[in-house]
Amino acid sequence: GEQPRRRTIRDVRKGTEPGVWLTAYTAPMARRLDAHVDVMLVGDSLGMVVYGMPDTLAVSMDMMIAHGAAVVRASHQALVVVDMPFGAYQESPQQAFRNAARLMAGTGCGAVKLEGGVEMAATVRFLAERGIPVCGHVGLMPQAVNATGGFRTQGRDEAQARKVRDDAHAIADAGAFAVVLEGTVESVSREIVAAVPVPVIGIGASPACDGQVLVVDDMLGMFGTDTPRFVRRYADVGDVIDSAVARYAGDVRTRRFPGPEECFGTRRAVTPG
Ligand code: KIV
Ligand code: NA
Repeated sequence: GEQPRRRTIRDVRKGTEPGVWLTAYTAPMARRLDAHVDVMLVGDSLGMVVYGMPDTLAVSMDMMIAHGAAVVRASHQALVVVDMPFGAYQESPQQAFRNAARLMAGTGCGAVKLEGGVEMAATVRFLAERGIPVCGHVGLMPQAVNATGGFRTQGRDEAQARKVRDDAHAIADAGAFAVVLEGTVESVSREIVAAVPVPVIGIGASPACDGQVLVVDDMLGMFGTDTPRFVRRYADVGDVIDSAVARYAGDVRTRRFPGPEECFGTRRAVTPG
């Protein structure tokens, strides 16, 4: 049969069916998601989800390259977008280019994503004009958690709303192929989606968006119990793991595992004749 073609940023469109994005951090998960999603995002949320960190600030370039490469290796259809970690791009457009090029060469991903609005527009333009597809990320920006004083929904008052709108416009004007809009009230999301020319992918940013993204472990019920309100739980994989491991532990302790069929014995002699 015909090999499915790997999606590119040109397949990320506005005004069509909503885009289906999910995070992925590992090869086995990427293998499962590949046929179902348009975009796999190797998010720096992996610091919290995979490494148990309290926030995303200590995520390194090496971590993003290792996980990005694993996801690219295990997928064939989805566009893979890799997050630029905190500290790898904020200093200058040149620093951002150097690290974005490292991410792309080291993983084989199709695009990178970085957080920031008006203040990052020149950097987005610098990368986009030099062959690096960039996805923006505005609204709630987790890498700025120490500056904003927590993970808070954005756009609740007019000053905040104006900032999120200005940020989305600046990043789209600078040449981003898409913008992730996180934790933003519905009315503001709606205005942004209507006004910016590129697809706006929402997470906690209402159904008005041109696509949706979730942290895969959240929607599978694998990442703790206090998931944010905007997450819909499509499975309780954590409970499945709990009960499987509990049964295994019981079987080992009572010598019901391994059983005869799980044991290697001496080969039975072949009867001649
Ligand atoms: O790091 C991440 O997973 C993200 C998405 C939640 C948008 O940036
Ligand atoms: Na991220």
